[in-house]
Amino acid sequence: MTRIALFASGSGSNAENIVRYFSGHEDISVPLIISNKRDAYVHERADRLGIPSFTFSKAEFDEGSAIIDMLRSYDIDYIVLAGFLLKVSQSLLDTYPGRIINIHPALLPKFGGKGMYGGRVHQAVVEAGEKESGITIHYIDENYDEGDIIFQVTCEVLPEDTPEDVAQKVHALEYAHFPRVIEAVVKGEDLSKFG
Ligand code: GRF
Repeated sequence: MTRIALFASGSGSNAENIVRYFSGHEDISVPLIISNKRDAYVHERADRLGIPSFTFSKAEFDEGSAIIDMLRSYDIDYIVLAGFLLKVSQSLLDTYPGRIINIHPALLPKFGGKGMYGGRVHQAVVEAGEKESGITIHYIDENYDEGDIIFQVTCEVLPEDTPEDVAQKVHALEYAHFPRVIEAVVKGEDLSKFG
C-alpha cells in the first residue's frame, strides 16, 4: 500500500476530492492531512472524512524535523500539496526526493512564483487577456513552481470571464484530473498517454 499525506492551507476541496477518490483503493491510501493553519476548513473536512489532521507552525515547516517525524510515524511514501501555501523545506525535499507533488492553478511557467496563489493567479490571467488557463501538476523542488511538470490541461478563458469564472473552470479541471494523475505517478504509469 502506498501512503499519501496531503498538505493543505485552506478550504481543502481538492484534499477532500483526493481522499474520496482513494477511499477503498486497493493500492493507495490517504491516512494523514497536514496544514499550517489551525482554523483552515480542511480540518473540518478531515474530521468528517475520519482522517487525522494536524497543524504545524511556519517555524516548524521551515525547520522540518517535527513534520518528518510525523510523516515517518504514519509510514508516508508521497506528499501531495493541495492548496498548500508555504514553501517546502530542504529537509523535507531531501527526505522525499521526487515524491512531493503540487498543483498550480495556471499553466506554468506563466503565472507562477512567489505571491502567485489562489485568486491572485486568476486575476493576473484575466488582466493579461489570456485566452486560456488551466492546471499544472508538477514535482516540487527548491524554487516556487519550478519543479518538473508532470501534467497540464487547459480551459478556455472568454473575454467576459471574471477571475471567479476562471477559478471555477480551473477547479473543475483540478477535481477531474488531480487524483488520477497522482494515481498514475504513484503507479509509475506512462503519463504521456494522458489527455
Ligand atoms: C486550488 O485552486 C489549488 O490549485 C490552489 O489553491 C486552491 C485550493 O483550493 N493552489 P482548495 O483548498 O483545494 O479548495
